[in-house]
Amino acid sequence: MSSPATTADRTALVTGASSGIGAALAREIAMDQYDLVLTARREERLQNLAEELEATHGVTATVITQDLAAEKAGEELFEAVTNEGIEIHTLVNNAGVPLYGRFDETELEDERDIMEVNMVALTSLTKRFLRPMVKRGEGRILNTASMAALYPIPKKAVYSGTKSYVLSFSRALGHELDGSGVTVTAVCPGVVETEYANRGNVEKSNTLAGVTNDPRSVAQAAWEGAKDGERIVFPSLHSKYGSQLVRLLPRSKVTELGESTVEDGASWI
Ligand SMILES: NC(=O)c1ccc[n+]([C@@H]2O[C@H](COP(=O)([O-])OP(=O)(O)OC[C@H]3O[C@@H](n4cnc5c(N)ncnc54)[C@H](OP(=O)(O)O)[C@@H]3O)[C@@H](O)[C@H]2O)c1
Repeated sequence: MSSPATTADRTALVTGASSGIGAALAREIAMDQYDLVLTARREERLQNLAEELEATHGVTATVITQDLAAEKAGEELFEAVTNEGIEIHTLVNNAGVPLYGRFDETELEDERDIMEVNMVALTSLTKRFLRPMVKRGEGRILNTASMAALYPIPKKAVYSGTKSYVLSFSRALGHELDGSGVTVTAVCPGVVETEYANRGNVEKSNTLAGVTNDPRSVAQAAWEGAKDGERIVFPSLHSKYGSQLVRLLPRSKVTELGESTVEDGASWI
């Protein structure tokens, strides 16, 4: 029996691969016969996923643990990948953490951490892995943003700010790279049922009270969009609708709708 069309010389690095959307993305990418570098902090989770992907898809999956909130995280992860002799074709900057609470009551240390993970590490990894991609004239970057990139969310002010950064950065960089052979895609999910709900006090909000998406459908849409070189992927009907609505409403209404996602579970955006 002939083997499926192979891209085995291609490796994708997925951050935040130990759960949720990241693990689902790793599964989608492995199905396309890419080798994987899986990274997050929880090693056992990553090892289990690596074994699953190798057994199911016959790819090679390398585990590298890294705390992306740590100083120089991007530099350290890049060095660890380079020391393994691995060339990255596809960089998936998916790791991200929420934080729920009034800004005058939350801790700056927590906000620093989410800015490090959601923005600084993402930017640092993109800088380092992009240059060889541009040299080769081939590569792909997929960044996990959020619908929160379009709707400022009171009580998630820093989180939604970081996601606006991810979306704006991705769009601008994608434009810069037109014609280079490297594409940049941002995916903007609405609410997805993952461990996100147990992080950063999100359980104290009403985030999960409305429509939710499953990580697999989000990952499928994101990966298909990235392969097609789409600049932004809205992975559900609700998010597509929400992305148009934001263009029509007054800005104050947009912020009110952002607030309703955490207060009333109006996750339809
Ligand atoms: N769930 C949603 O409703 C939703 C909606 C829109 C966008 N998103 C975005 O989707 C992405 C994935 O989140 P998810 O929903 O799949 O949540 P999740 O299940 O909590 O996954 C988050 C991932 O990020 C990793 N991570 C967190 N802090 C880290 C750190 N300091 N260093 C390294 N890795 C770290 C976690 O791994 P370890 O804990 O093992 O380190 C985990 O693999 C995030 O960027 C999130 O903002 C989520």
